[in-house]
Amino acid sequence: MDHAAEAELLKLSRQLLDSIDSGNWAAYCELCDPSITCFEPEANGHLVEGMPFHKFYFDLPGSGTPKQSSIVSPKVRVFGDGAVVTYVRAVQKLTADGAPVTVCADETRVWQRIGGAWKHVHFHRSPCA
Ligand code: GLY
Repeated sequence: MDHAAEAELLKLSRQLLDSIDSGNWAAYCELCDPSITCFEPEANGHLVEGMPFHKFYFDLPGSGTPKQSSIVSPKVRVFGDGAVVTYVRAVQKLTADGAPVTVCADETRVWQRIGGAWKHVHFHRSPCA
């Protein structure tokens, strides 16, 4: 088991979620390979490829209210130049009425070591049952 790689991938995963929560497109791009693919609820069951689909959401006006993601029960599996990070993502945010709410999703994120650095190459997000 490569504990150093596992720790690094967890750290990168936290940075990725922080970039999403804060709307930091530059930080998100730094972590992702441009050919990233994904299945996520926003894509209505389709496999999305590339970054433009994700940029749409970063370009939306922010809510101006706090939003914070926590990684719960993570598992990291490293195999050569690839890795899978799975966890429950707990997102704390405010409803339209200003009440705090926590929304959870199951996330599987695939990373690949490219040019000596881990890059995010695929993810799948499903709402928790
Ligand atoms: N929707 C962007 C991401 O979860 O990586």
